[in-house]
Amino acid sequence: MQSENHKIQPCRGRLGVLLPGMGAVASTFIAGVVLHRQGMGRLIGSLAEMQTIRLGKRYEGRSPLIRDFVPLERQENLVFGGWDLFPDTIYDAALKAGVLSPEQLEPVRSQLADIVPWPGVFDPTYLHNLTGTHIKRGETKWDLARQVIADIESFQEKHGLERLVMVWCGSTEILPQPSPVHESVEALERGLKENAAEIPPSMIYAYAAARLGVPYANGAPNLSADIPALVELAKANGAPIAGKDFKTGQTLLKTVLAPALKARMLGLQGWYSTNILGNRDGEVLDDPGAFRTKEKSKLSALSSILEPQLYQELYGDHVHKVRIDYYPPRGDAKESWDSIDIFGWLDKPMQIKVNFLCRDSILAAPIVYDLVLFLDLAKRAGLVGIQEWLSFYFKHPQCRSDLYPEHDLFIQHLKLKNTLRLLMGEEVLDHAGLDYYTP
Ligand SMILES: NC(=O)c1ccc[n+]([C@@H]2O[C@H](COP(=O)([O-])OP(=O)(O)OC[C@H]3O[C@@H](n4cnc5c(N)ncnc54)[C@H](O)[C@@H]3O)[C@@H](O)[C@H]2O)c1
Repeated sequence: MQSENHKIQPCRGRLGVLLPGMGAVASTFIAGVVLHRQGMGRLIGSLAEMQTIRLGKRYEGRSPLIRDFVPLERQENLVFGGWDLFPDTIYDAALKAGVLSPEQLEPVRSQLADIVPWPGVFDPTYLHNLTGTHIKRGETKWDLARQVIADIESFQEKHGLERLVMVWCGSTEILPQPSPVHESVEALERGLKENAAEIPPSMIYAYAAARLGVPYANGAPNLSADIPALVELAKANGAPIAGKDFKTGQTLLKTVLAPALKARMLGLQGWYSTNILGNRDGEVLDDPGAFRTKEKSKLSALSSILEPQLYQELYGDHVHKVRIDYYPPRGDAKESWDSIDIFGWLDKPMQIKVNFLCRDSILAAPIVYDLVLFLDLAKRAGLVGIQEWLSFYFKHPQCRSDLYPEHDLFIQHLKLKNTLRLLMGEEVLDHAGLDYYTP
């Protein structure tokens, strides 16, 4: 593929990071950046911070850090703001989440306590297991959208911010019914004014971002910006968008193992995945409606990778089950089990067991960090609408409606790095390597 040199606007001023939902993931992300600024923590898991990128031929020995290759905003220039349904400061939210210890948070206590969420947009139809106490009031959803826009504008003005990025770190919503209000900007705006039932809160934040041309990423499986109206609005106002649902623990490993089985043409009879989780996210997912949203997202990867329509004999009959149980003693320290029944040569059955004792927010925080920096880069490079090259970070990647999403982690990784090469006018790597051996 021909590389093209995109004109990337340099980083000027500071970058505002807007987070609807300031719970475990958001507080772990912010605390990590603030601790890092003071030399008290490493941003492990971030490609933007730690990964290198190979350029040109292997013998050229060019492998700079991604952050030295592409012009990313520096973490010192990030300013944090956001909304929540509860008035806890980021310090309180981090304490409640219990991901980081009080001793670890102490040195940055005052910086975290200064970040106070603005009241959120709450609709109990879409969120059953939480009752917000810190919420916006408005006659219509249009009024609520105007209030979110006003929050963003006053945050920008107060801190003198040059640019903004929004990443949804709020709870998983019950999915709305498909509706004509999702189909065009005009219909969506009419729906906001007429309080259409099919517009959940996350769509209102995504509307505000797209209206202002602010890049938007969706860390939950919510429909949010994945509707024609918001893709259209984002494109028109120069906003890159990406989603959905951070790919952190079990699905990360699923999208590593499933491509390996398929690459070696090993068959699959069944894949049983279960989780226990005890944080607020787990409590929300204990509601059947919210669980169905998450289940849909978690189920989508396997069939898409295995392509049973092409490999009927190997994958045509596989059973895939996903369970999540809310189990408070574990807090954010999620545990997942995968029991995988496979078959090989002459149909001999085999099993794989995976037991991942992970920490949800520790895996999600670097994803938020990278999305902030890469979406800001996309904006400065003039990329608008769906950013499929960021699929790497999502369980259920948003893509053009006539395409299927790419779930294989390694293809997603190559896509991400090749996009960076392309943006910088470097050769895109196909790894064929034939030219090393042609005389
Ligand atoms: N942690 C992970 O590994 C992971 C992985 C994939 C996706 N996610 C998703 O990321 C999101 C955040 O996860 P978490 O562990 O931080 O959950 P959390 O429950 O700790 O935090 C979510 C916060 O969002 C707030 N909220 C909900 N609706 C809101 C609204 N309309 N406006 C403003 N605030 C709202 C809640 O009050 C809560 O404080 C969840 O949707 C979760 O499913 C997390």
